[in-house]
Amino acid sequence: MNLELSDEQRLISETARDFVDKEVIERARQSDRDEKFDRELASILGEMGYLGAPVSEEYGGRGLDYVGYGLIVEQIGRGDSAARTVVSVQTSLVCLSIENWGTEEQKQRWLPKLCSGEYLGCFGLTEPDTGSDAASLRTRAKKTDSGWKLSGQKMWISLGNHADVAMIFAQTEPGSGPKGLGCFLVPTDTEGFTTQEIHGKLGLRASDTASIALDDVEVPDDCLMGEIGEGFKVAMTALDSGRYSVAAGCVGIIDGCVDASVSYSKERKQFGVPLARFQLVQAMIADMVVKRDAARLLVLRAGILKDQGKPSTLETSIAKLYATESAIECANDAIQVHGGSGYVDDHPVERYLRDARVTTLYEGTSQIQKLIIGRDATGISAFLPTD
Ligand code: CAA
Repeated sequence: MNLELSDEQRLISETARDFVDKEVIERARQSDRDEKFDRELASILGEMGYLGAPVSEEYGGRGLDYVGYGLIVEQIGRGDSAARTVVSVQTSLVCLSIENWGTEEQKQRWLPKLCSGEYLGCFGLTEPDTGSDAASLRTRAKKTDSGWKLSGQKMWISLGNHADVAMIFAQTEPGSGPKGLGCFLVPTDTEGFTTQEIHGKLGLRASDTASIALDDVEVPDDCLMGEIGEGFKVAMTALDSGRYSVAAGCVGIIDGCVDASVSYSKERKQFGVPLARFQLVQAMIADMVVKRDAARLLVLRAGILKDQGKPSTLETSIAKLYATESAIECANDAIQVHGGSGYVDDHPVERYLRDARVTTLYEGTSQIQKLIIGRDATGISAFLPTD
């Protein structure tokens, strides 16, 4: 496996770094304080080609490889995880699903406007009673003469209040588990589709989070994406990409922790010398550097496999597990390096900790990633006591 970045990939990373330094970091603290979803920034991300970057050019994307996409996500994650969530949901969960599973008509209808940022999309899998056990979701799709009638509830849906189109996963045949699931592309202005904002979050305060109610939402047949029975696979392939981008975003958080801790520890003096002069401070910074490099290499490995068209579910779970858990540890240590100053938002490190915390929950908890990794290692599924 060649771990060298190409000149083009290096340029992509440097361009994204400059963009984040100039456009994202400035806005992040205020949006976090205001708990304000920055729709304008989402449009700017679209203008930069950062929404749907790996989507092919004929549908409005940039046709980038996965490694290049991961490098962009890393930089945006360093600046602001709320903005990174927009990129991950829009690109990995929505755009790439439509490109992989949609009809030509669905691709033409949605992708150019999603890639440009004119439209936003959301991924409606999770429900109030269904998180890790995604195949047991209860939202119901009933066949009508001309299409489908959807009813149920979705929960914790990123971008849900601002989305123009929602991927809604629904059960067509109760009791049939994953075999009966379908995925529907629902325009959010359809009658019966309503959303509510979720506030009071520990972190990702500038990210839009919704609960969605579907009250007999009627959609035509051409809103079905993939076949009935393929809905679970649509969800799992989307999450293979989504987890990759969450992991890449966490590499960005760790990198931000290193930068902030190095510069603070060189400026701040105690006992007459810079903090960086103390071995215990250096130990914390060294741990962050090791975790950043390890997480970055795991993300790169998953990206290379994806670019080669090889299976990457296992490697993606490993990258997500390691990068997300490490981001929390590093952000916690970065606050320690900053002392009291790290506990307020003059520095980004307290936001890094609050924002990192959700990454071991969404797009598959750390426990789900461990069960995927453990199943591969042992050949035994331990998801259920009866498996
Ligand atoms: N790619 C393609 N197909 C896959 C797949 C993958 N990664 N994983 C499973 N499948 C297929 C299987 O091959 C199988 O197909 P067949 O029946 O044809 O053989 C089918 O799906 C069912 O497979 P399993 O019953 O073996 O399912 P599983 O054990 O692999 O999955 C699970 C169980 C891992 C727990 C899965 O349900 C899971 O990942 N749960 C977590 C859900 C999750 O991440 N939710 C987060 C939602 S998104 C979010 O956070 C909101 C947001 O807005 C950001």
